[in-house]
Amino acid sequence: MKEKIVRLEGMKAEALLGGGQKRIDSQHKKGKLTARERIALLIDEGSFEEIGQLVTHRSTNLGLENQVFYGDGVVTGYGTVNGRLVYVFAQDFTVFGGSLAEAHATKICRIMDLAMQNGAPVIGLNDSGGARIQEGVVSLGGYADIFYRNTMASGVIPQISAIMGPCAGGAVYSPAITDFIFMVENNSYMFVTGPNVVKTVTHEEVSSEDLGGASAHSVKSGVTHFSSANGVACIQEIKQLLSYVPQNCEEEAPRLPYTSGNEKRPQLNNIIPENPNQPYDIREVIDEVIDGGSFFEVHKNFAENIVVGFARLAGRSIGIVANQPAYLAGVLDIKSSQKAARFVRFCDCFNIPLLVFEDVPGFLPGTDQEWNGIITNGAKLLYAFCEATVPRITVITRKAYGGAYDVMNSKHIGADMNFAWPSAEIAVMGAKGAAEIIFKKDIEEAADPAAMLLEKEREYAELFANPYSAAERGYVDEVIHPEVTREKLIKAFKMLENKVAKLPRKKHGNIPL
Ligand code: HXC
Repeated sequence: MKEKIVRLEGMKAEALLGGGQKRIDSQHKKGKLTARERIALLIDEGSFEEIGQLVTHRSTNLGLENQVFYGDGVVTGYGTVNGRLVYVFAQDFTVFGGSLAEAHATKICRIMDLAMQNGAPVIGLNDSGGARIQEGVVSLGGYADIFYRNTMASGVIPQISAIMGPCAGGAVYSPAITDFIFMVENNSYMFVTGPNVVKTVTHEEVSSEDLGGASAHSVKSGVTHFSSANGVACIQEIKQLLSYVPQNCEEEAPRLPYTSGNEKRPQLNNIIPENPNQPYDIREVIDEVIDGGSFFEVHKNFAENIVVGFARLAGRSIGIVANQPAYLAGVLDIKSSQKAARFVRFCDCFNIPLLVFEDVPGFLPGTDQEWNGIITNGAKLLYAFCEATVPRITVITRKAYGGAYDVMNSKHIGADMNFAWPSAEIAVMGAKGAAEIIFKKDIEEAADPAAMLLEKEREYAELFANPYSAAERGYVDEVIHPEVTREKLIKAFKMLENKVAKLPRKKHGNIPL
C-alpha cells in the first residue's frame, strides 16, 4: 500500500505543477497568476475540492502522445466563497497555453452539469490560446458543448467569466453568453479575429490591447462589465459580485442583518439644482438612499448616461437602474438601452428587486441613432422592464419626458410603486420644445417673438413641468420630500416582499434582439 500511496502522491505533485516550473515562472514574469493561485484566492481556504485532476488527453496527433500533462490544461472543482458553494474552472496557461481540446472541454462540461444539477454559480477563469491546434475539430466540438451548456444554464444559475489572459476566436462566445465578464487590464484580450487577420482584411493596424483589451471592451464595446486593475483585484471583485446574487433562480440573494434607525437623509433635499438644465451626479442620490457604501457598479465605463449596479437596502440586495444627468443629460441611446436592458433581465432572472431613479430628457435624436437602430435597441429596455416580475419601484427625481417616461419603469408597464420628488417634470417634452410647436403661429406673429416664446414656455411649464398631473391620475403614487426617499423605499420593498406576478403561458417571448 505504501508504494501505491507514494505513486499517487507523485502523480498529484506532478499535476500541481501543470506545465512545469519553467512555464509557471514565465506566467509570473508576464504578471499573471497561475490557475491554482487564482483558485486559491477565490475559494475559501481549505474548501476547494478538485475534480478530474488526473485527466489527460488521448490524442496522438503531431507528437501529442509525448506531451501529456495531468489535468489537460484546466483545473476544475468546487468549493465555497464566503461559505457559499460555487463551481469553478481555471484554464492553466502553462499546459498547451491553456488551449481547449476534448478532455479539457469535458472537464468544464462536467463542472457546468454539476452546477446546474445542484443550483450553484459557475465561475470560469479564462486564460487560453483557444482551440488546441493539434486536436483539430474535436476542440471545436468541445467549445460547442460548452456554449450549449452556457445557454441552458442562463437564467438558472449565475455564470461569471473572468478573462485573465488571451481569449480569441470562437472562444469568446462562452463568456459572452454568461451573465458577467471581468477583464484584467493590460493582461487580457478578447477578439473574434486578432490584429494579423484584421490587418489582412481591413488594412487596419491595431495592437491586441487596443483591439480587444479591457479598456476597449469596458468603454467602447461594453463586452466586459468590469475592468480590473490586476488578477488579484479581479478575483476580489468577483467575490464582491457573488455577495449580491442568489445561488440560483429559485432562491433569494443573501441578506445582511439590518437594524432600522433614522432613515431620513436631509442631504437629498439639496442635490437637484435650481436650474433644470444643470447636471448633477445621480450617484450622489444613490449613495444617500442605499445602505452606506453598498453600491457595486456594473458597466461603469460604458454608456455612462445610465448607471446600473447592485446595492443593499435595509440589508436586502437590489438592482439599481438610474439615468445619469451628469453625462449627455441622461438621455437614452442605443448603448444605454442595451446596458440597462441586460441588467434588468439579470435581476429579474435572479429575483433581485429593481429600483429605478429617473431623470431622462428623452431618446437621443439623430441619424446615427436612427440608422443604428435606436428603435429596436430602445425596445429592448422597454421589453425587459415590461417582462420583469420582481418588485419594481421608480423614483422620478426630475425629468420624465416622452417615450422615455414610459420606458423607465413606469406604472403602465408594470412598476409596483412610483414616487416623484417635487422637482419632477412629467410631460410629453420639455417646455421650450413644446411651446415652439404648439404656439408656433402666436410666436411668429408676435411683436417680440422671443418674449412670446418665453411666456408660452412658462405657461406650458406651469401646467406640465411638475409631478401633479401624473399624481392626479395615479401614475405617481406619492409625491415625496426627497429626504424621506430611503424610508419610503424600505417600506415599499418590504410591502412587496411576497409579490407574485405571472407571465402569460408561452414557450418564450421574442425580445427585439
Ligand atoms: C496548442 C498552444 C495554443 C493552441 C498556445 N499554445 N496556443 N498549443 N494550441 N491554440 C502553446 C504554445 O505552443 C506554447 O507551448 C504555449 O502554449 C505558450 O504559447 P506562447 O506562444 O509561447 O505564449 P505567448 O507568447 O504568451 O502567446 C500566447 C498566444 C499564442 C497569443 C495565445 O500562443 C497564440 O497566438 N496561440 C495561437 C492562438 C490561436 O490561433 N488559437 C486558435 C484560435 S481559433 P510551449 O510548449 O512552448 O509552452 C479558435 C477557434 C475556436 O480558437 C472556435 C470555437 C468555436
